[in-house]
Amino acid sequence: MKSSDEKKNLYDLVSRVNHWALALLIVGMLVFGFYVFEFVPRGPGKGALIGLHKSIGFVILVLGIWRVGWRLAQGFKRDTGTSPLWQHRVARAAHVLLLAGVIIMPLSGITGAYFSGRVTSVFGLFSLPVGEKTESLAEIAYGAHVIAAYSISFVLILHVAGALKHHFIDRDATLKRMLGKS
Ligand code: HEM
Ligand code: HEM
Repeated sequence: MKSSDEKKNLYDLVSRVNHWALALLIVGMLVFGFYVFEFVPRGPGKGALIGLHKSIGFVILVLGIWRVGWRLAQGFKRDTGTSPLWQHRVARAAHVLLLAGVIIMPLSGITGAYFSGRVTSVFGLFSLPVGEKTESLAEIAYGAHVIAAYSISFVLILHVAGALKHHFIDRDATLKRMLGKS
C-alpha cells in the first residue's frame, strides 16, 4: 500500500495523457516544421503542407492552454530522484520553458499569420482572424517563432536526456511515474 503522501506525488491520468499527447504533437510539429520550411521546394505541395502545419498548430494552442492550466492548478510534483540540487533546478527550469513553449510556439505562428494578411483556415472548417498586412510585425512574429522552435528543440534534447539518465543510469522512478508505472 502506498502512503497518501506518495500517492499525491504521482502523476494522475489527466497529467499523463496531457504530457504524452502534447509531447507527440510538439515533437511531430518540430520535425514537420523544420522539414517543410527548410527542405520542401516552393509549389502547391508546399502550400498544402503549410496549411496543415497551421491547422495542427491551432489545435496545439487549444490543447496547450488546457495542459498548462492543468499544471498550474495542480502545481509541479516533487522530484523522485536523488540528483544534486542544481540538476533539480535545471529540470524544473526546463519544464517551465517547455510549458511556455507549448503556448509561445502556436501563438507566435498565429500572430505572424495574422499580420501576413493571408487567411489561415483551420482544416477548412473555419478561418482565424486576419489583420491588415504589416510586413514588419509579421517578420518579428515569425522570427520569434523560428527562434522559439530552435530553443525548444534544445531544451527538449536536455529534457529527454535527463529522463533517460534517470531511467537507465540512476534507475529511479522518474520516467516510470510519467508512464503510470511505479
Ligand atoms: C518525447 C520524449 C519525452 C520524454 C521521454 C519525457 C519524459 C518526461 C518525464 C519522465 C517527466 C517526469 C519528470 C519528473 O517527474 O520529474 C516529464 C515531465 C514533463 N515533461 Fe516530458 N518528456 C518528453 C517530451 C516532452 C515534451 C515534447 C514536452 C513539451 C511540451 C514535455 C514537457 C514536460 C513537462 C512540462 C513536464 C513536467 C510535468 C508536466 O507538467 O507534465 N515533455 N517528461
Ligand atoms: C506548437 C506549434 C508549432 C510548432 C512546434 C511549430 C514549429 C515550426 C518549425 C520547426 C518551423 C521551421 C522553422 C525554420 O526552420 O524555418 C516553423 C515555421 C513556421 N511556422 Fe510553425 N509551428 C507551430 C505552430 C504554427 C502555427 C499555429 C502557425 C500559423 C498559424 C505556424 C506558421 C509557421 C510559419 C509561417 C513558418 C515559417 C516561418 C518563416 O520561416 O518565416 N506555425 N514552425
